Amino acid sequence: MYFQAFQRGIGYLKTLMESSAQMYEDNLFLSHFYDFLKIKPQILEPEIPSQVPEKILTGIEFKNVSFFYQNNVKNVLNCVNFSIMPGEIVALVGENGSGKSTIVKLLTRLYDPRGGGIFLDGRNIKNFKADEYRKKISVVFQDHIRYQLSAKENIYLGDINGKDNIGKIKQAAEQTDIDKKLASFPLGYDTLLGQWFKGGEELSIGQWQMVAISRAFSGC
Ligand SMILES: Nc1ncnc2c1ncn2[C@@H]1O[C@H](COP(=O)(O)OP(=O)(O)OP(=O)(O)O)[C@@H](O)[C@H]1O
Ligand SMILES: [Mg+2]
Repeated sequence: MYFQAFQRGIGYLKTLMESSAQMYEDNLFLSHFYDFLKIKPQILEPEIPSQVPEKILTGIEFKNVSFFYQNNVKNVLNCVNFSIMPGEIVALVGENGSGKSTIVKLLTRLYDPRGGGIFLDGRNIKNFKADEYRKKISVVFQDHIRYQLSAKENIYLGDINGKDNIGKIKQAAEQTDIDKKLASFPLGYDTLLGQWFKGGEELSIGQWQMVAISRAFSGC
């Protein structure tokens, strides 16, 4: 009887120790989660927002824009000045790491400049509500996301309001010529893209890029 009681006691103790270890491990994950929740948005909303222009009249202007990333002391952009007229098509050409994508990230207000300002029709883009301003912009970065979702979802995520408008989704796909490929799948636009899930169809890198560009078109 004593022996059995001892053995059972050891068993309980072992379970208790294991549970404590599990709780400690879970707590480590939770502390990351709480640290994440504590992060404050760095893009501040203006107290009195300006109206985002429906039609651009005078263009976009970068005035003495300087920028460095938080973990970087060196400036990525140093007093950059240029302007883009409405309707003008511009290509930024430069060495790898020279700051081209950073310029686009500043233009889309994913970051704010550390010095100088970016102006749209003469108004600093900081004076617009970030959401309203971003609705007017489509961007496809070189490291765009390959959503392991259906072809339809991959496109309408560019404008969630058009989620039930299959005509608009197809039109966005036609603009990059990816529509034929998507329509050729047995489930058409409902086909899962990528190979994470069963039944998913893998696309080539170029085809994924076309899907990403269609996503940018879906908001237009
Ligand atoms: N999120 C980040 N955090 C810290 N540094 C970054 C970050 N993104 C870019 N950088 C740094 O900023 C510099 C400019 O990067 P950026 O991506 O703007 O270059 P790029 O001109 O677009 O290059 P590429 O031609 O390779 O696309 C690089 O030196 C890079 O190391
Ligand atoms: Mg780049």
